Amino acid sequence: MKKKLPLLLLGCMLVVLSGCSRDKYMPEAGATPETIFKEACAKCHSPVNGKVMALSPEIANKEAIIDRIRNGKGLGMPAFPNLMGDSVEGLAQYVLENSTTK
Ligand code: HEC
Repeated sequence: MKKKLPLLLLGCMLVVLSGCSRDKYMPEAGATPETIFKEACAKCHSPVNGKVMALSPEIANKEAIIDRIRNGKGLGMPAFPNLMGDSVEGLAQYVLENSTTK
């Protein structure tokens, strides 16, 4: 029993470091991008002066934002596999329109 603990810890670390944390959030049918953002994103990206985040130049386009939402990044940004199609398109557009660029 005691020997299994280090293995378990290692497993957890691998999951965290490879950035495969996944958020099971599922939007309601017909939810607006604003609602989706409030429900799924605002707990980490809380708006400042009406702007939801400061985008790095390399991610200030719709495709890159969609990719980041679908796949997440690193330790902090979870992947949202349930955001797809129109909901992820609309959300990416919303983020783009309501962000500043670094
Ligand atoms: C658990 C906290 C958390 C949640 C929830 C979250 N994010 Fe993030 N997000 C982060 C962190 C931390 C980063 C920075 C990751 C990095 O660059 O290593 C980030 C980065 C991003 C970036 C890239 C910004 C840049 O300039 O590099 C975008 C776009 C983004 N998030 C959009 C979203 C959207 C849209 C949602 C909701 C569907 C969301 N995030 C939900 C924590 C979160």
